[in-house]
Amino acid sequence: MTVKKICCIGAGYVGGPTMAVIAKQCPDIQVTVVDLNEARIAAWNDHDVNKIPVYEPGLSEVVSEARGRNLFFSTDVDQAINEADMIFISVNTPTKTYGAGKGQAADLKWIELCARQIARVSKSDKIVVEKSTLPVRTARTLKDILQHTGNGVKFQILSNPEFLAEGTAVEDLLKPDRVLIGGDQDEEGKKAIEALVNIYAQWVPRERILTTNVWSSELSKLTANAFLAQRVSSINALSELCEHTEADINEVARAIGTDSRIGPKFLKASVGFGGSCFQKDILNLVYIARSYGLTEVADYWEQVIIMNDHQKKRFANKIIKTLYNTVNGKKIAFLGWAFKKDTNDTRESAAIYVADHLLYEQAHVGVYDPKVPEQQVYTDLDYLATRSSDENSKLVQVYNDPYEACKDAHAVAILTEWDEFKHYDWQRIYDNMLKPAHIFDGRNILDKAKLENIGFKICPIGS
Ligand code: UDX
Ligand code: UDX
Ligand code: ADP
Repeated sequence: MTVKKICCIGAGYVGGPTMAVIAKQCPDIQVTVVDLNEARIAAWNDHDVNKIPVYEPGLSEVVSEARGRNLFFSTDVDQAINEADMIFISVNTPTKTYGAGKGQAADLKWIELCARQIARVSKSDKIVVEKSTLPVRTARTLKDILQHTGNGVKFQILSNPEFLAEGTAVEDLLKPDRVLIGGDQDEEGKKAIEALVNIYAQWVPRERILTTNVWSSELSKLTANAFLAQRVSSINALSELCEHTEADINEVARAIGTDSRIGPKFLKASVGFGGSCFQKDILNLVYIARSYGLTEVADYWEQVIIMNDHQKKRFANKIIKTLYNTVNGKKIAFLGWAFKKDTNDTRESAAIYVADHLLYEQAHVGVYDPKVPEQQVYTDLDYLATRSSDENSKLVQVYNDPYEACKDAHAVAILTEWDEFKHYDWQRIYDNMLKPAHIFDGRNILDKAKLENIGFKICPIGS
């Protein structure tokens, strides 16, 4: 079968960029991205492509090429579902905040709502593709709902997990290491798989398109993220050991990364990983393992999260300890709030937790991030509900200018590895800070020797 019309439910960090790239690469397919959030859809349709709601290098160019041609953004979910041959589900699947599995299991409420809506609206056969990260066996739920509508419409369910990383989404989508498609292994299932393979094959070499059964595909997504996060926690665990010995974590990372079995990527010690996927996916894996009674498996993976929480707390404690055990009333300047560079996404960013810990000690936090809007910083802190939002607004100030953010500060903390931080006029920053002027480099991006020459006291991670 040839797909002519695609609908994607959810215009977020995954749905938006993924569909923009499919539309760019497949001009013959009409792609409609729908979302319940009207403001979000309006922003995707903004005349000024720089105002689309997701910041990703290269994305606005892709959107301006395809939008209006074969890429559309709409709030009319029913119509888009009904017209489509293939429907991607790309809605959020946050960790549950209530009931059984609270704090660990994924909340599938939104996925189920989507499935019910698809079941209610569809008048012709469709291929439904899981794009959001989902716990293993979610396809079962989708099937149960979609295959019992009683109206004769047939659905095939595929799993096609997204491996794009934020900040490099467009590049990752244009040149993926692999595309993974899971589906039923019977004849109808294989046809559905083939339909999706044919879409990706328009720009991805065939040998990079892997097909599996649905369950392997679902589990591979959680496993990939768990392995990546584990590497960060492993290097971070050793960074603490380095700080107590004379080893340097950057040298250790380089030395082990040259072993081809280990490889050089994802070995950067940091203040801790963030993002919407790593923690959520591991918690999910832990929850699934526990639900099968696999205690050792669950404990093993849970340690990755425990280590990450420790790293964030340790960073905050180091700031407090170095500033003579009190930060009460002291200004600490944060450079960076996003969970990594080149994105405006702040979900689970280490900056939020480090700030929270310092605020608990009555510090004043000044924040500068090149892409994160002021309101987002307050929203992130208020979401933790550690203190009232009045208190958060009193203790935290967000700046549009990094030099203003650092002015009169006792310390500067680097929370995100934005390239521009390396090229600041650090002499000017030094001149306007209180002395001794401290820098806590949570990303090991600054030139230590140069800054020490200016007079800074530098505290990197892992040396
Ligand atoms: C991740 C996966 O990489 C991607 O394949 C999946 O589809 C979604 O989850 P993302 O969360 O966008 O992507 O970013 P990633 O580059 O993986 O970084 C995650 C976190 O780990 C960031 O906070 C980053 O700063 C941190 N990190 C990464 C480190 O601290 N050190 C490293 O060496 C690498
Ligand atoms: C290891 C290191 O590889 C080597 O660099 C170091 O100098 C000494 O320790 P070795 O113990 O000889 O070498 O063998 P290795 O190939 O690393 O295997 C170690 C164990 O892991 C074996 O029992 C092997 O069967 C097992 N293994 C390895 C697996 O079970 N699965 C794998 O994917 C790889
Ligand atoms: P992700 O990082 O997985 O893309 P986001 O939260 O950025 O997650 O995006 C998910 C989007 O899905 C949100 O914009 C949300 O409004 C949308 N969404 C959730 N449920 C539905 C639904 N039933 N119908 C349409 N859109 C939905």
